[in-house]
Amino acid sequence: MEHLSDYSHAYQILLVFQLVSSIFVVLFLFYKSAPYGKFVTKGFGPVMPARPGWVIMEFPAFAVILVMFYLGRGWENPAMVVFICIWEFHYIYRTFVYPLRLSKGSRPMAIAIPLTGALFNSVNGYINGYEMFLSPDAAVKYDLSWFLTPYFIVGTGLFVAGWIINQHSDAVLRSLRKPGETGYKIPNRGLHKWVASPNYFGEFMEWLGWAVLTASWAGLAFAVFTFANLGPRAYKNLQWYREKFGDEYPSSRKAMIPFVF
Ligand SMILES: NC(=O)c1ccc[n+]([C@@H]2O[C@H](COP(=O)([O-])OP(=O)(O)OC[C@H]3O[C@@H](n4cnc5c(N)ncnc54)[C@H](OP(=O)(O)O)[C@@H]3O)[C@@H](O)[C@H]2O)c1
Repeated sequence: MEHLSDYSHAYQILLVFQLVSSIFVVLFLFYKSAPYGKFVTKGFGPVMPARPGWVIMEFPAFAVILVMFYLGRGWENPAMVVFICIWEFHYIYRTFVYPLRLSKGSRPMAIAIPLTGALFNSVNGYINGYEMFLSPDAAVKYDLSWFLTPYFIVGTGLFVAGWIINQHSDAVLRSLRKPGETGYKIPNRGLHKWVASPNYFGEFMEWLGWAVLTASWAGLAFAVFTFANLGPRAYKNLQWYREKFGDEYPSSRKAMIPFVF
């Protein structure tokens, strides 16, 4: 059992690290825009094409939790099997499908983005995998009755709703450029009518749903970090649209959460 306590120490340290780093991330991203897409600028080192950048960034999220699932013999527990399916449903798409669907006109990203993203995804995969599959009370907490708890039902509903919003909003953005185009236009369909970054809103809802459906500290840390990461980006996106398109851009639109922010 000694090896399990090693995993537990790493889990505790990394959980606190992720929560504390959310504070720095939110402050940094309000101060400086993450250097990719609309905001790619000089001064953040070399850049790389967006497609391989996304694969490098997201692969640890796909892989690390699978290792934790294997170490915790998660396949013996139906709730754990459902958790890994939900997680991988998102990350198989994000790692291997989303990059291929990106328009060829997508801007490059500073290499610092996939590298820091891969670090975050490794830590996040570890803490979520540990708490869900390896921690001493996981098997007791997540028995068959978990499927009937309000946590699981409400959380799964939030996750699914967030996924639909995220997919639809990304699809609207993809449809804006004709083949060969690289410029930016005003998106007007779906939740884009209400906020500048509905894809981020959907992503945040997904991970808030994950936090609820697993009722876990690691899930909560992930949802907090997602907001810290995407909230300031959505705010910068809104400012960017207003500056670029002026009066053409509807003044009632918020940044990320309809009517709120
Ligand atoms: N979990 C997390 O913390 C996290 C972090 C980051 C991203 N994500 C998710 O990853 C996905 C992509 O994120 P992102 O930050 O790259 O989103 P984004 O800035 O909205 O860009 C998505 C794609 O749409 C294009 N695009 C954006 N605005 C456009 C416009 N006005 N006109 C034409 N094309 C436009 C972009 O091209 P350019 O590249 O040329 O700008 C890019 O190809 C989202 O679903 C997001 O939720 C998750």
